[in-house]
Amino acid sequence: MKTKVIYPGTFDPLTNGHLDLIARASKLMDELVVAILRNSEKGEPLFTVPERAEMIHEATREFGNVSVATFDGLLVDFARSQKASAVLRGIRAISDYEYEFQMAMMNRKLDPELETLFMMPAEKYTYVSSRLIKGVFRLGGDVTALVPPLVVERLKDKTLATPHK
Ligand code: PNS
Repeated sequence: MKTKVIYPGTFDPLTNGHLDLIARASKLMDELVVAILRNSEKGEPLFTVPERAEMIHEATREFGNVSVATFDGLLVDFARSQKASAVLRGIRAISDYEYEFQMAMMNRKLDPELETLFMMPAEKYTYVSSRLIKGVFRLGGDVTALVPPLVVERLKDKTLATPHK
């Protein structure tokens, strides 16, 4: 049977940590669907969902088995609608573990058939998060080594389009 796996997240924006995980996972799985949550409770995002989808699409073009989708509501429902057998999540440090464990167990309660797989990104990205990238970039810091070049361009476009108040 072919393994179809969902890699869900907010991806606001995609980082090299995400991309590193996608590269690793795409070698192991037949199909990997990067799924952007549309109704995130994380507050006002920097990038719209279509902007995030376009960046992921461009950055993952080289992988033949990676696609991009968006979803609303429960992850387990989306995974079922996609006929996926598992969900992939990245663990950077022990601090990620508790939240990820809770989420995995809740998803298992909601759908016992759906597995959660955890993978670690390259060590050099263990401190990278979308939240930190946005914060550092806003304050003029250099993030070029931490996000794909296209994301750097889009971050620059954003700051030009929305001048500081
Ligand atoms: O990148 P993030 O913000 O850590 O991703 C979190 C995400 C999107 C995986 C999670 O919030 C999610 O799956 N939301 C969908 C709602 C859901 O299914 N909730 C129950 C699982 S605890």
